[in-house]
Amino acid sequence: MIPQEFIQTLLGRIDIVEVIGHYVPLKKAGSNYVARCPFHSEKTPSFSVSPAKQFYHCFGCGASGSALGFLMEYTGAGFVEAVRDLAQQTGLQVPEEHGGQDYLRQHQARMNLGEIIRRALDYYRAQLKQSPEAINYLKRRGLTGSVAAHFGLGYAPEGWRNLASVFPAYDASELVEAGLVIATDDGKRYDRFRGRIMFPIQDSRGEVIAFGGRVVENGEPKYLNSPETPFFEKGRELYGFSQARRAIREQGWVLVVEGYMDVVALSQAGLENAVATLGTATSVIHVQKLMRVADKVIFAFDGDAAGRQAARRAMEVALPHLTDNGQVLFLFLPNGEDPDSYVRSAGRDAFERLALQATPLSRFFLDTLTQDLDMVSAEGKAQFLKRATEQVPRIAAPALALLLRERIAELARLPREDVDRLMGVGGGKVAPAASAVSYSARRRIRESPTSLAIRLLACVLQYPAVALSGVEPGNWMEEPDELALRSVVDFIRTFQGQGPVLLSSIVEHFRGCDENRFIQEALRREFNALSSSPMEEVTQSYKEGLGRLQQQHRRRKVDRLLAKSRNETLTAEEMQALKALTALPDERTGR
Ligand code: UTP
Ligand code: MN
Repeated sequence: MIPQEFIQTLLGRIDIVEVIGHYVPLKKAGSNYVARCPFHSEKTPSFSVSPAKQFYHCFGCGASGSALGFLMEYTGAGFVEAVRDLAQQTGLQVPEEHGGQDYLRQHQARMNLGEIIRRALDYYRAQLKQSPEAINYLKRRGLTGSVAAHFGLGYAPEGWRNLASVFPAYDASELVEAGLVIATDDGKRYDRFRGRIMFPIQDSRGEVIAFGGRVVENGEPKYLNSPETPFFEKGRELYGFSQARRAIREQGWVLVVEGYMDVVALSQAGLENAVATLGTATSVIHVQKLMRVADKVIFAFDGDAAGRQAARRAMEVALPHLTDNGQVLFLFLPNGEDPDSYVRSAGRDAFERLALQATPLSRFFLDTLTQDLDMVSAEGKAQFLKRATEQVPRIAAPALALLLRERIAELARLPREDVDRLMGVGGGKVAPAASAVSYSARRRIRESPTSLAIRLLACVLQYPAVALSGVEPGNWMEEPDELALRSVVDFIRTFQGQGPVLLSSIVEHFRGCDENRFIQEALRREFNALSSSPMEEVTQSYKEGLGRLQQQHRRRKVDRLLAKSRNETLTAEEMQALKALTALPDERTGR
């Protein structure tokens, strides 16, 4: 757990303009900065970054958040990862993580490693241009120079110590740590990558952190990868993610394949929304990252038994991360084909058609449960139910889980209640929080009229100082949206002594809390309208609105008391209250 105070300190230390500017070219416009929105495609810039609020907001698509939120949305990073990333940029140390010395060492090491890898990359790329053999190989595989450049492909020539020409200090331990040089026990050193096409692996921020190298033509091992370092864990990274990001946003779906060449070949064919796991099984981190950037994740696997097995593992990893907004699908390629070979022989359109007909997770899930079972016999059905009981409770999407239980009951020819009981469902099971609802999913949530409390909340978010304007939300507040308003106002009142409370601080303070939902709603629905209003105006509407809200309450309370008085005698206290409430409507708001 990272302490709240640290998050607030961090937000106070960073500059959102700098953080976002690293990824998106920002132009100054008045007191804000603008750009074309990275979260939807547009011709004219409606994405605005406010240094004063330390907040970004897109007037086109409604995306908004703090620098932390931006990193999560843009790079697909998790919260802790994003915090760590920002802390590193500011030189702050995340508490409970590592000692100061350690931290500095790591930071330094990462900087050095980055530099070393960049220099090696430049060398490999230059070498590719000079190797007709490597160029021919890539051409034979159907790649153009521009796609090779897009992925930064390079070539490590044959030879044991080519990198010595790039790094005069060839014996430095950093080269070994960076994974470029191998040190033998008797102190000899030589290049790891020799005679290989080099695929630079970028992290989600677009920094090259490792390499994969493929032999030209045939040889063993076919692919050689950089060893894992503290900065490169295969289970965290997705090859091609940084290049695919824009296409994923635009298409709304991401294709997950197995190989480097698959990603490159798909991109060559015009399918730029593909990423690859680095020769490892799909991990939880992969799934989380993917579901944050797209509502629809399609995993492509070979059609053979190994492919189905890998698909099954990916499915089981995905179950606890499913949302009812998202979709996970599985595409099984014809036997003997991989995405690279298939897209080259059948073409882009055929591949896309196949992707759009991919098997939904729900169907694959049920297929897996019934696989190899005799569903007519009691034994077969019992085994089916046992499998189902192990997997269904792991599904995070409540509606999907419900529908699957229904299907399972049908397949087992049992009443739903029995299946539910078997799975321990019933009796107020709490639906998991929809924390992983991705941005475009949020946009699709059906709109009902904005409540008054949400509108007031928007006023406070737009100008937090409005919360100090004398009127205090009272104890009469009782609806969830009103309680959220009150919490936010309390937060501002409590912390304003330490300087103005920024919108970014508010948003991050309530991340993961009940209030968050209402804050997001207020931002999404009211922010555009309010942003051109001056503070005095917003303060005025806030005060009036709060008065109206209290009136509504009073009216409701009167109605309740009157209704009650029709059936029974009111207590003396209730009579008193009723009198006070109906006497002079404005007597109490006048404060
Ligand atoms: P494949 O064997 O399917 O290779 O391995 P590929 O991507 O189709 O390669 P081409 O088309 O023959 O060039 C899929 C992925 O598994 C990892 C790599 O990430 C590869 O892209 N792999 C495979 C290794 O790491 N090492 C290996 O020796 C083989
Ligand atoms: Mn292949």
